[in-house]
Amino acid sequence: TRTLTFLGLESSCDDTAAAVVRMEATGPRILASVVAGQTALHAPYGGVVPEIAARAHAEKLDLCVEEALAEAGVTLADLDGVAVTAGPGLIGGVMSGVMCAKGIAAGAGLPLVGVNHLAGHALTPQLTEGLAFPYLLLLVSGGHCQFLIAHGPEDFTRLGGTIDDAPGEAFDKTAKLLGLPQPGGPAVEAEAMSGDPKAVHFPRPLLDRPGCDMSFSGLKTALLRARDAEVAEHGGLRRQARRDLCAGFQAAVTDVLAEKSRRALREYLAHAPEHPAFAVAGGVAANATIRTRLEQVAAEFGATFAAPPLKLCTDNAAMIAYAGIARFEAGAQDGMDLSARPRWPL
Ligand code: KG4
Ligand code: ZN
Repeated sequence: TRTLTFLGLESSCDDTAAAVVRMEATGPRILASVVAGQTALHAPYGGVVPEIAARAHAEKLDLCVEEALAEAGVTLADLDGVAVTAGPGLIGGVMSGVMCAKGIAAGAGLPLVGVNHLAGHALTPQLTEGLAFPYLLLLVSGGHCQFLIAHGPEDFTRLGGTIDDAPGEAFDKTAKLLGLPQPGGPAVEAEAMSGDPKAVHFPRPLLDRPGCDMSFSGLKTALLRARDAEVAEHGGLRRQARRDLCAGFQAAVTDVLAEKSRRALREYLAHAPEHPAFAVAGGVAANATIRTRLEQVAAEFGATFAAPPLKLCTDNAAMIAYAGIARFEAGAQDGMDLSARPRWPL
């Protein structure tokens, strides 16, 4: 395989990102990865506002691209292609990215490759840890939660997933209900560190049912009830009570993910006993408690555990550039009619 250098763009949620990844004989190398978050813009609304996100992406993409190229020490002339998230995600943001990528590709005469955002996350363990196919992947983010067997860059089998909220979404809602800042994941994790996970009981939804499907919306109801009881009794949410609620919530999510991972691993290993490998990806994989527990589960099965560095667990464009290279190497390329897709299952 010859050396390929791709620019990647990501704008499907609330991070504007550009990256340059080079595929060398020895494997992929990230030359630059720039991520401009929009947390402050959405903070007053307690959640991501699609219109605000789309406008911010449109404003920031060019700057991110310039910064990534400069950091990588390359110009457009050094590139072999442009990869962009074409979905799934917030349509306005995805459109901003696709238009920007088309402009660059047309202007510089470069191939354009549309990438599924989920494939980007799913291939990250390969980009960062050099994990070979096949492997079992748990993708856990703000919008997604599913077990996938990754057979190849565009070949995934879904074993199960959430039937309602994604865990990241549940972390974000928990933070909102407890008056913590967004994104909720890191805030709840920090509070949970000094909380007692057993102080308040949270359910472990769907553990009594076979299979790998999960449910997290019930945790929100349990949290709301416990919070209201606390407020009614003490006239407000005491500091320690908040920590305990965060710890209890996080422990429930962790237990569910761990048990369902066991089931998924059993199913995966029945198919591919010669490749015992379990990888996690997506923003929630940045959670230390969850990560450690999943690592223990992998060890129970004698499976290799691969978790990307925190920065590459959350949304970024390096994963998009890499997934773009993988598609391109497999012969795929898109035309100027590439469209943004709000929904796009793997
Ligand atoms: O993958 P990602 O950046 O965006 C997508 O959803 O595609 O994931 C963001 C999600 C947010 O819901 C955020 O609260 C969650 O990942 N997250 C965490 C942590 N860091 C980010 N959840 C739990 N613990 C964390 N440390
Ligand atoms: Zn994501």
